[in-house]
Amino acid sequence: MSLKNDLYLRAHKGEKLERYPVWLMRQAGRILPEYRAVRSKMGGFKELVETPEFAAEVTIQPVDILDVDAAIIFSDILVVPEAMGLPYQMSEQRGPWFENTIRTEEQFALLDKKIDVHERLSYVFEALKLTKKELKDRVPLIGFAGAPWTIFCYMVEGKGSKTFSESRKLLYTKPDLAHELLNRISDVTIDYLKGQLEAGADALQLFDSWAGILGREQYAKFGISYIKKIAEAFEGVPLTVFSKGAVASLEDIAKLPCSALGLDWSMDIRTTRELVAETKTLQGNLDPCVLYGTAEFIQKATINMLKSFESHRHIVNLGHGVYPDIDPEKVKVFIKTVKNYEF
Ligand code: CP3
Repeated sequence: MSLKNDLYLRAHKGEKLERYPVWLMRQAGRILPEYRAVRSKMGGFKELVETPEFAAEVTIQPVDILDVDAAIIFSDILVVPEAMGLPYQMSEQRGPWFENTIRTEEQFALLDKKIDVHERLSYVFEALKLTKKELKDRVPLIGFAGAPWTIFCYMVEGKGSKTFSESRKLLYTKPDLAHELLNRISDVTIDYLKGQLEAGADALQLFDSWAGILGREQYAKFGISYIKKIAEAFEGVPLTVFSKGAVASLEDIAKLPCSALGLDWSMDIRTTRELVAETKTLQGNLDPCVLYGTAEFIQKATINMLKSFESHRHIVNLGHGVYPDIDPEKVKVFIKTVKNYEF
């Protein structure tokens, strides 16, 4: 069982590459009309996520249509809080929301204490198995989860937020409760990611979308320490940690025991390379808004970014997920530019 295109995995190991691998965060769904066609056949987002045949189909779409070097399983980070006993709903207008939140010890006590991920998240594992089979070893399959801090934010706020002040408030007013919840999330996440590997994922990524709202000290205590615990459970597995916005914490993130770091567009490639030297692969980091420009502009900006790489240990991506209203043709320009670039 060897992959026809294993550039993405070789980049994680720091092996010699013919060219840079490229894929996009949030490539499955969102931008493709082919995704919307499948989506309109279903009752809603959750049904799509929970039906392995459809999840596998939309996972493979970007491989066929955009020609990316890796697939990422179609799911959501919010399946973890749901498995812990806090169900979510997905509204097309408002995004995700939770009927209940965890802000007190009493609410924390209502969460399920010990959960079996194989029972509660079997639909994700089934989707991975099916995708792996249908991908026919063309490209690696990435499994993922939210990092504990970001999952904590959703469980405390109950929805997205501009300030996440309820979540940050808890870190000061009830630090013990915060640590208890973060620990519980981390344990479930470790089980969940192990299950994803067993089901066929070739690599893993942790999305810490709200890392940037914490200062360095708070992120070290309530964010990085839990990511470290997870990373230590996956030594030797290709693992990317994407701490969006955590520019102040780069020095700390650089020390994590993982193979790759995801960078957003505010993080400087040269500075981060100096911090990690050749011990880690860097992934990123073109501003997704560049893809609103003309084809020529996209080519220029992409080549500029590639030229700033002082090492071959890179995976090319955007600095965050691709935005829903970006033209797939513009995404193709970005991907082709990377594929045609010679070292
Ligand atoms: O990368 C992929 O294409 C795989 C699938 C994937 C989804 N969500 C599907 C999805 C991944 C990796 C995620 C991760 C995710 N989900 C994150 C971390 C990455 C990031 O963007 O920072 C976060 C914060 C979420 C939570 C979430 N899910 C939000 C805030 C929303 C609503 C707004 C949005 O992003 O579209 C979702 C819904 C969601 N997750 C959709 C998709 C395709 C759109 C829902 C739909 O099709 O109706």
